Amino acid sequence: MASAAGIDQLLARLDGLTLPAIVDKFPTTHPDVNPYDLYRVHLSRVLAPITGVDADKIHPAVHWTNALDKGDFTLPVPALRIKGAKPDALSAEWAAKFPEDDPLFEKPVAAGPFLSFFVRGAPLTQLLIPMIRELGAEYGRNRFLGLKDPKDPNSGKKRIVVEFSSPNIAKPFHAGHLRSTIIGSFLANLYEGAGWDVVRINYLGDWGKQYGLLALAFEKYGDEEALKEDPIDHLFRLYVRINADKDAEKEAIEAKKKEGQNVEELEANSLDEQARRYFRKMTDRDEATLALWERFRDLSIVRYRATYARLNIKFDEYSGESQVTEEAMDKVAKEMAEKGITREDQGAVIIDFTELIPGKEGKRLEKAIIRKKDGTALYLTRDIAELLGRYEKYKFDHMIYVVASQQDLHLQRLFKIIELLGYKDVASRCQHINFGLVLGMSTRKGTVKFLDDILRDCADHMHDVMRGNETKYSQVEDPEGTADTLGISSVMTQDMSGKRGNNYTFDLAVMTSFEGDTGPYLQYAHTRLSSIKRRADISDEELAKADLSLLTEPHAVNVVRLLAQWPDVAQNTLRTLEPTTVVTYLFRLTHVISSSYDHLQVVGSEPALKAARMALYDASRIVVGNCMRLLGLSPLERM
Ligand code: ARG
Repeated sequence: MASAAGIDQLLARLDGLTLPAIVDKFPTTHPDVNPYDLYRVHLSRVLAPITGVDADKIHPAVHWTNALDKGDFTLPVPALRIKGAKPDALSAEWAAKFPEDDPLFEKPVAAGPFLSFFVRGAPLTQLLIPMIRELGAEYGRNRFLGLKDPKDPNSGKKRIVVEFSSPNIAKPFHAGHLRSTIIGSFLANLYEGAGWDVVRINYLGDWGKQYGLLALAFEKYGDEEALKEDPIDHLFRLYVRINADKDAEKEAIEAKKKEGQNVEELEANSLDEQARRYFRKMTDRDEATLALWERFRDLSIVRYRATYARLNIKFDEYSGESQVTEEAMDKVAKEMAEKGITREDQGAVIIDFTELIPGKEGKRLEKAIIRKKDGTALYLTRDIAELLGRYEKYKFDHMIYVVASQQDLHLQRLFKIIELLGYKDVASRCQHINFGLVLGMSTRKGTVKFLDDILRDCADHMHDVMRGNETKYSQVEDPEGTADTLGISSVMTQDMSGKRGNNYTFDLAVMTSFEGDTGPYLQYAHTRLSSIKRRADISDEELAKADLSLLTEPHAVNVVRLLAQWPDVAQNTLRTLEPTTVVTYLFRLTHVISSSYDHLQVVGSEPALKAARMALYDASRIVVGNCMRLLGLSPLERM
């Protein structure tokens, strides 16, 4: 790979190290996919004789910065734990001792106990731009991070299961499902980029007494055509209708009761009771009822698939509560009873955490029901069997559940039960990624029913915004498609802008604006970079030969410095698991690119300069596109 060759050339000029030698001494580094890994190693080696500390002790203390004016790297002197000396004095002393003529770094700046390091523009530019252009979509990905043994490329990938979206059949797709979809898909992409083997699971809510009721509704009011046409919508309507029937019936029975009438027979034949009996048949694996249920499920999945495709999401498995077998649940039930985790309580089987776990934790987890008096299993019961089943099937190294904070307690109980069962190792591989609420989410057409409605509404709104600029609008080739992509980008960017745990308000006007840190702004930034390339009309071969030493302007160097951070940002996101880590970086990058345009004209500059600048913007386009794709956005080429 020529980019690795570029690094080797640079290394030869530096300290005679080779890539394998670096990776051997600093096993967490991969300079061939992250050039700043090389910079940190080099810096640590230069600092070793100055500080009297070993390079491998300095290396982990070198941090990135979050503003270019603070340098590209910083070293908090106290992190080196040098006894006796004042950090402020040391940082000043070391800054003075740092060589004038280091090939990669300017002389550092001492700021209190910190040393700030600024990279030299020319070598970074000449290393990075060709590297980004060659790696293309790979730049920012790091296949080493997901290796079972990071030192051994043949050790195989670690496997992660990401469960996300998980809506409920015949019920509205609410904001919690939307967030789970957006965040979960992002996390799956993130791990994939880090070289993990990723399994995406959608765990549908498709089981329980209420689905007995739905089947009754279909017998009463069902319409084959409508079901095939739009299963999600039809099932939802049936569900609403039968629930209304049920409520009316209940009221009528109550009224009769009050009048002193005998309602026993009415109650025994109530919809509620019928639903219970119907669901009983389902759990007893009665073929006819199950076949109907499978059809509802399968048709719904077909529709879900199409909608998820609009978001570039594909699940490896549509699992669901209905797929958890009674046998699997019986098996763990036995195990839990044998291990003394469950006990009987008025005919039901329960877990009393307050008895099992002393202190605060047990109190917090309280009690949970595993089997109701009538023998039916619950949401939690199914999750226990499902988790163990997934481990059996996938032998995952890690599993993430992307579920709203409202279910914190549920997942804490789940993981605790797995631990109490003795599967400590399995429990320690499971993680709940939670998130806050979306406030005020409703569409113009009323309350939200399904993901399609949300996306359509955003696209409609976006279309209105676009029509506001008539001249521009008339030039858009595919207004419908563009509005659709922009609408989706709006929702997703808004969702990922803040920290996951925060609530936010769903605001169509704010998120569809081209001004401010929005999805449309990001799309605009990407289309502008694409359009420069189209207008410049320079072949990729020519760009590869461009004389990058011409990129001396501070604006050009600043863009390069930000581009160089991308692999670090992606790697850091693996620690934060916060989409906003990427979003924040992406807005910083697009702002710096945007403010460079006035200073770095492409079309109209003399050919050598034009080619060099075009190479810079081409690398920028690649990085902006890579960030957007990681977030799950589809970068537009034009609009
Ligand atoms: N279907 C559930 C709901 O809508 C979310 C499922 C979360 N995942 C799980 N394994 N329990 O609330």
